[in-house]
Order: sequence, then C-alpha cells, then structure tokens
Amino acid sequence: MSPQPVQESVQDQCFGDVPNVSPNAIRIVMVGDVVGKPGMRITCDAIPALREKWHAGGIVVNAENAADGSGLRCKDYQRLVDCGVDAITLGDHAYRKREIMQILESEPNIVRPANLAPNAPGRPHCVVTLADNTQLFVMCLLGRVFMNPCDCPFRAADRELSASPTKIKLVDFHAEATSDMQIMGRYLSGRASAVLGTHTHVATADQQIIDNSIGFQCDVGMTGPHDSILGRKVEAVLQATLHSIPTPFQVATGDVRLNATWFDAERTTGRCLAIGRICLHESVLNDYLKHRGKSSMSMRL
Ligand SMILES: [Fe+2]
Ligand SMILES: [Fe+2]
Repeated sequence: MSPQPVQESVQDQCFGDVPNVSPNAIRIVMVGDVVGKPGMRITCDAIPALREKWHAGGIVVNAENAADGSGLRCKDYQRLVDCGVDAITLGDHAYRKREIMQILESEPNIVRPANLAPNAPGRPHCVVTLADNTQLFVMCLLGRVFMNPCDCPFRAADRELSASPTKIKLVDFHAEATSDMQIMGRYLSGRASAVLGTHTHVATADQQIIDNSIGFQCDVGMTGPHDSILGRKVEAVLQATLHSIPTPFQVATGDVRLNATWFDAERTTGRCLAIGRICLHESVLNDYLKHRGKSSMSMRL
C-alpha cells in the first residue's frame, strides 16, 4: 500500500529535513550512551525512524549505561539486537553487570574497550554484516585523561585497525577530555571512516570531516532523560555533592531524548562524505509512531 500524503507530511514535520545518503555511500548511525529504561525505550522505539527517515544502513549503540544507569544485562543486549541494532559498544562500565561477560565472549556484534588488559573478557573489535551485505568494522577505546588506568588507546587502535581489511570502520572513543578526542581523530585520519566520542553524556557541536577523510565529533551525547545530571536524578546528585553523603544515583525520568550522529561512508574507500547530528525528543518520536499506527515501547518497559 502506498503511503498516504497526509501521514507523510506529518512525518516530515516531525524530523525536519534529513539529507539524502551521499552517492555510493552507506549511512551509519551511532547512538550515544543509552541510560536506563528511558534510554532503552527511546532507542528501541527510534530504530524504525532511523532506518526510514534517516536512511540508516547500520546502527551502532553505546550501551554501557543501559542497565539502570550502569552496565548492560543479557536481556538488555537481546532487546537491542531484537529491535534491529547492528552492533553494540561499551565503555568504562563494561563489566558492571558481570552476567554480560558470557555475551561478550559468545556474541559477534558486541565489543568491550580494546585497550583493557589483553586477557579481558570479550572481543576488542567486531565486523558485522549489515542488511545490504556491507561489512562494518566496530571498535571502542577508553581515554586515559581523568579516567581509570588502561592500556594505550593509540597502540590498541593501531593493532585492531591493522587486523581488518574492511573498508568502513567506526571507532567509538569513550573518553572524558575533548583534547584527547581530537588527538584520536587526527591520529586515525585516513585509517577509519569515523571517530565518534562517547562517555561525557553531553553532545558537542563540532561534527566535521577531518582531512576530507574521517568523520569526527568529540561526543555524540546521551540517550536518556535530560532533566537530570548526566542521566541521574538531580536531587540525589546535589545531596551527595553538597553533603558528602554517599547516595544511590537513580536514573531520572524527564525530557527523554535520543542523541546520535550519522555519517556517510563511501563504499569503495571507506572515507566519510558527510556527517550530521540527531537529537530526537521522545514526544516527537511518539507523534511519528502514532501516525504510523505503532505504539511505543513505553507500555512494555
Ligand atoms: Fe563511560
Ligand atoms: Fe556513559
């Protein structure tokens, strides 16, 4: 059945102008740190919109905060995969839920940071086959500035990137300092399609193509509740900070948004041809779902 014009115009109003995919390229979407149930809900709800309206040929999600704000459970992994996520990256909270180690060892589409100890559970990179048979290399790395000790991310990047003949390569640099991120973007110019930052939970407006070759952004931003402090309830964080009393930081609930970055990778060379940011509010997404006759995951999560 052909789409009805009225529905189509509503969908266009929801998302504004989304550029067409560059010629001879595939568009990859990287979703920033998914926090708790609100983050899981909007991510799963948004997959059809990312495919249909943003023309995503591949979707990669940083899910280090999916399980109540810290770590990833087996059921969270399965839900993301069932919803259509192609690959999952993690960060400094990779092992916070120990049960995920079995998934990290057995499943081919999830990676732990590549610069942990050499014998750390899980794979340091993965290559996934997308719906159109494109091969996508995915890895993540931890920064060393204001972070716990880890191996050199630059040496780890050298090692893992040299191991893959795949043209299209995405590096999720999970780091705190913008200087660290910019150094990695420059360092991998010509060797990866994109270096996209995660971890700070704050999206930066510096998306760019370095050397006419590599897509770059310091941080993709957080997917979850933005009426919060980095996804946690404001009052709890304030109390802990002002009174030095250890307090559980519960995941907040208000103003849920998905933050992501898309980039178009040329199929023959892997270089980045275009890059852009996505900030999708849950209310807008729900309007889109309603006009498509679909219900939100919110009833199930
Ligand atoms: Fe992190
Ligand atoms: Fe995070």
